[in-house]
Amino acid sequence: MTSVELQSLSKQRRLLVTGGAGFIGSNFAHYWCQHYPNDRVVVLDALTYAGNRRTLIPLDSHSNFRFVQGDICDRPLIDALLQEEAIDTVVHFAAESHVDRSILGPDAFVRTNVVGTFTLLEAFRQHWMSSDRPEDYRFHHVSTDEVYGSLGPHDPAFSETTPYAPNSPYSASKAGSDHLVRAYYHTYGMPTTITNCSNNYGPYHFPEKLIPLMCINILMGKPLPVYGDGQNVRDWLYVEDHCSAIDAVLRRGKVGETYNVGGNNEVKNIDLVQMLCALMNEMAPSLPVKPAESLITFVKDRPGHDRRYAINSSKLQTELGWTPSVTVQEGLRLTVQWFLSHEDWWRPLLSEEYQAYYNKVYA
Ligand code: NAD
Ligand code: TYD
Repeated sequence: MTSVELQSLSKQRRLLVTGGAGFIGSNFAHYWCQHYPNDRVVVLDALTYAGNRRTLIPLDSHSNFRFVQGDICDRPLIDALLQEEAIDTVVHFAAESHVDRSILGPDAFVRTNVVGTFTLLEAFRQHWMSSDRPEDYRFHHVSTDEVYGSLGPHDPAFSETTPYAPNSPYSASKAGSDHLVRAYYHTYGMPTTITNCSNNYGPYHFPEKLIPLMCINILMGKPLPVYGDGQNVRDWLYVEDHCSAIDAVLRRGKVGETYNVGGNNEVKNIDLVQMLCALMNEMAPSLPVKPAESLITFVKDRPGHDRRYAINSSKLQTELGWTPSVTVQEGLRLTVQWFLSHEDWWRPLLSEEYQAYYNKVYA
């Protein structure tokens, strides 16, 4: 039996996907509509600079899909949506997500990540309490490994019991939202789950983040700005594997629990940039500057730059049977191919606003 046939035997879910026009949320909306076409998927997104309505156009023809432009801090809107769409599952991606922007201006991070999450939690609590089938409800909160702080070279990877030690305004605001979600389970018994995931990459990734920025700059023959000594380490997960991890948690996860998600792919930034250069040299039909490695430029370090992230996802693997399916070598190749064939997606994002941001960070 196919997964679609299996699903027709199970109950239809009705999802509110916040931030579903952003990088991971849009991948998740595509993933869910493909794997569970009978489920209702309502995307709520404010379309900030990071949200892109065009990413969701292929889903507009899907009868169970709806897009709503709106803010997660807008309580009347959330109340109305939860009720009129009879939502039973919230998958909460909406956030301000870029560390460098949080250093330039933390206000929006506190507003969306903390106050927005609180607003959603309160609205969902009321909705859940008045339901006649509360056992079918779920509030899933998507968070980051950055809440755990920074590791030394020989420290063990972050586990679900590692104490929180966020270092940037971004990670501090995500930590605040995680604590609120946890409190709603412990205080009200609300059916919540949390995932803390490592760095994602793949299609529809906004140009400001490391991997898309390097791909686009290589294609445009611009310098590749590596912060500090380039020795900072991140764990990288292909975005579709993050979607399948959230799927596993929604279907088989235990309420009140947190699950760490990671790719077991620790890579130093400079090595990652070298890998992208090698792939571009090989795969791009032509490049303005070749070899791409000659564009690598070490620049001033990010203030408070976390040295190393590594994540232990054995709980998710052993309890829920999830494993990542894409290696970093395969995932980077897929991603480079995607950026090569989707210039129509990324080129319009290099707006004046984006350029002004870029000049502030890299001047
Ligand atoms: P993103 O910045 O690409 O997308 C965020 C989306 O949220 C955008 O579409 C934006 O328009 C929307 N949004 C922002 N403020 C909003 C508001 N007030 N109301 C409604 N919508 C709003 O982010 P992403 O990389 O897709 O990250 C999604 C989630 O996953 C975030 O919660 C982030 O903390 C978490 N996360 C990201 C990564 C990563 O590597 N990107 C890793 C782990 C966890
Ligand atoms: P980023 O993609 O911003 O994710 P995060 O800060 O959430 O981990 O950055 C990944 C790593 O790459 C991080 O160590 C900072 C570094 N980096 C650069 O060296 N140069 C850049 O231009 C950017 C955007 C990031």
